[in-house]
Amino acid sequence: MTGPAGKPCYTQSYLGSQCVGELARLRTLEYAFDPLSKTVFEQLEIPARSDILDLGAGAGSLAGWLARQYPDAKVTATATDIDIRFLIDVPDIQVISHNIVTDDFPAASFDVVHARALLSHLTEREAILTRIASWVRPGGWLIIEDVSLQPSLSTTNPLFRKIALAGITLLEQSVGSDMFWADILPSRLRDRGLSNIGHRTVEGRIGDNSPADTFWAATTVQAGPALLKLGLLTQNDLDAMASLRAAPEFTDTALTFVSSWGQVPIRRKA
Ligand SMILES: C[S@@+](CC[C@H](N)C(=O)[O-])C[C@H]1O[C@@H](n2cnc3c(N)ncnc32)[C@H](O)[C@@H]1O
Repeated sequence: MTGPAGKPCYTQSYLGSQCVGELARLRTLEYAFDPLSKTVFEQLEIPARSDILDLGAGAGSLAGWLARQYPDAKVTATATDIDIRFLIDVPDIQVISHNIVTDDFPAASFDVVHARALLSHLTEREAILTRIASWVRPGGWLIIEDVSLQPSLSTTNPLFRKIALAGITLLEQSVGSDMFWADILPSRLRDRGLSNIGHRTVEGRIGDNSPADTFWAATTVQAGPALLKLGLLTQNDLDAMASLRAAPEFTDTALTFVSSWGQVPIRRKA
């Protein structure tokens, strides 16, 4: 479940594309968050002929939407080599096998760079954010979106808190994730010299059959074997949580979906 030299690694974890169920889980993520990402793009002024890059594009629904929404744009979607398999059938996008940890793009290559549910999972996230900001042309936009699991730790339900803590620990240990990294996204963009920074945080609940609930449940089911193997939870815990989530009286805040965007300043000649 770990990468080279025992280092935690997304693509070799229980969330990698080789896992049975990962495509279906990514579809639940898209169902929950595509509507939110689309509204971010729609409120920015993006020129028709833009070069748009979607990093770690998963199953590609947002990249596909970008190609339809901006038909004169060039939309590039990336994922690491084993993971582009979910992207190859998406029409009108260019797919590149690109490992964001080790591979680069020339400075100022794109008008828009977007990454969703990616940087929180990569241990090199701070250095990567600095590099990807440099790939945006002056006047262009960097859009970073990620999930924070902070709200799940405020629950008063002891079982849900136990499950949430175990999930956060598993993500840290096997993937290298920081599931609170998104909480201060705007200041992270400001630190990279971006201007016109915008920010939106949307609550996602469980137990209410919402799209966020479906995504949370699909992720927890997929994490099940790894949670048991590491002794973070028992099968009784998982069964009890499934019953709690199905109980009509139970609902709670599980996550926030954080979007932040900023513009690379157009430097004036002195
Ligand atoms: C949680 S999924 C999010 C997918 C997509 N951005 C979305 O929101 O629908 C994370 C994605 O990042 C990709 N990924 C993980 N590590 C990567 C890396 N080092 N370089 C590029 N992509 C990576 C995975 O293959 C996966 O497609």
